[in-house]
Amino acid sequence: MPVSTIEWIGDLDGYVRLIDQTALPTEVVFKELRTCEEMWEAIRVLRVRGAPALGIAGALSLVLGVRSSTAQDYETFRRDLDNTVEYVGTSRPTAVNLFWALSRLKTVAEELRDQPIPDIKEALLDESLRIIHEDRQVSHRIGELGQALIPDGSGVLTHCNAGGLATAEYGTALAALFTAHEKGKEIHVFADETRPLLQGARLTTWELQQAGIPVTLICDNMAAVVMNQGKVQCVIVGADRIAANGDTANKIGTYGLAVLAKAHDIPFYVAAPVSTFDLTLESGAEIPIEERPAEEITEGMGRRIAPDDTEVYNPAFDVTPARYITAIITERGIIDNPSKKTILLVLS
Ligand code: MRU
Repeated sequence: MPVSTIEWIGDLDGYVRLIDQTALPTEVVFKELRTCEEMWEAIRVLRVRGAPALGIAGALSLVLGVRSSTAQDYETFRRDLDNTVEYVGTSRPTAVNLFWALSRLKTVAEELRDQPIPDIKEALLDESLRIIHEDRQVSHRIGELGQALIPDGSGVLTHCNAGGLATAEYGTALAALFTAHEKGKEIHVFADETRPLLQGARLTTWELQQAGIPVTLICDNMAAVVMNQGKVQCVIVGADRIAANGDTANKIGTYGLAVLAKAHDIPFYVAAPVSTFDLTLESGAEIPIEERPAEEITEGMGRRIAPDDTEVYNPAFDVTPARYITAIITERGIIDNPSKKTILLVLS
């Protein structure tokens, strides 16, 4: 990964530095964010995005939000913390990593409730840095395990962006491709452009080109054709939230791809860290799906492309039923034929 997706600069009075993904691929712009409100905006408009990166962003938002708390006792501090957790949680609803990271920080605060407030604030920053460090290791482990499923000489289709830009570095689905490439496997990637926000066109092609991996950009509606033409031997995507039964929320369009892959007898892989599982949800029907502004569709190409007052439906994610998923690649191992039983075998 040529740039650092999101990092903390300095000590507790420092700031967040992230690459503004809305400016890619034409410009590489870094933003320095010093308040929780600035982070909320960055998350909402997708300056930072992708489930694991949202976990990191959530943790750092919380640090920024509570570091200036004037609370002198734990109960007051805990109220400030809860309010900030609630606020950060309103930024985007689907990727569970955001909520996972917030709850991890809350647990740290609770464990240190008898300590001085300044020490608790320091510990929250330390925990956030630990999340970043772990995410790097997890991505490389997913890459190592996932590459084994990518045959030498194969065409691989991916959707949205599950690369270094969606994590601290290296990625999940793209990590498998980076590692396969580093091991000398010849692969050719087909990247769906991923309407409406074009994460595939803007981010995935950019990352793959930087890594020297051959990539062909296609419109989302071309996936069936490249599969039918025998150009694709497997599909690999990331995930935003995986329910206990293996149903997987990911970028809108993923479900259709999974159905197409099944129809063409092509394996469909999901690569995701354990932090993307939400075992409190029995099935994908319970996953909250973000709906985004109509303008992303009606004005997404830089100009108005639909008549005024056109009714729009813009869900940012869909849910792929577990039966369409060949395997889920996690840092703890590969879950073949995901189901409640096979998931628990690897996760517990
Ligand atoms: O709306 P986005 O860009 O945040 O959506 C991102 C995705 O759907 C990714 O595929 C997912 O978060 C996995 S990232 C490793």
